[in-house]
Amino acid sequence: MLGKFLTRDETETIKLGEEFSKILKSGDVVALYGELGSGKTRFIQGVCKGLGVSEVVNSPTFIIMNKYDGRLRVYHFDFYRIDDIKEIIEIGFNEFIYNDAVSLIEWAEKVREILPDSRYEVVLNFGSNENERVIEISRL
Ligand SMILES: Nc1ncnc2c1ncn2[C@@H]1O[C@H](COP(=O)(O)OP(=O)(O)O)[C@@H](O)[C@H]1O
Ligand SMILES: [Mg+2]
Repeated sequence: MLGKFLTRDETETIKLGEEFSKILKSGDVVALYGELGSGKTRFIQGVCKGLGVSEVVNSPTFIIMNKYDGRLRVYHFDFYRIDDIKEIIEIGFNEFIYNDAVSLIEWAEKVREILPDSRYEVVLNFGSNENERVIEISRL
């Protein structure tokens, strides 16, 4: 489930997230990188679906973090609006990510220096057509 993938519409990105979720274990951290609209939240929706989350998954842009319960507990962070890493530390980010849960982090570049060394990375880029996305999944 690691490698470089091309998706042709959002349902394929959701499917990819769902497939990827199968390798996740409690305590895993997934850092997502990609511009606005590149599909980070769609991918995460697939991961949550795969983990058996029944709630609606949306970007927690205003409240920074959402918590879901599926087969595993899921913390979903979105740091788009965060300018100062101190704000992230203050919400207890470190306590959350070293916990019995899967942490999914949008705009992970904003917390790169406090991410655990061992993590998955998902890099999303726009493809050559409007609905294409190139998604690279790796394990550090
Ligand atoms: N292949 C694709 N994968 C994911 N999203 C796509 C794709 N093609 C078009 N889209 C659209 O791009 C947008 C992605 O939104 P979203 O997942 O919220 O992005 P992000 O969280 O990175 O800002 C959605 O409107 C979706 O319909
Ligand atoms: Mg998003």
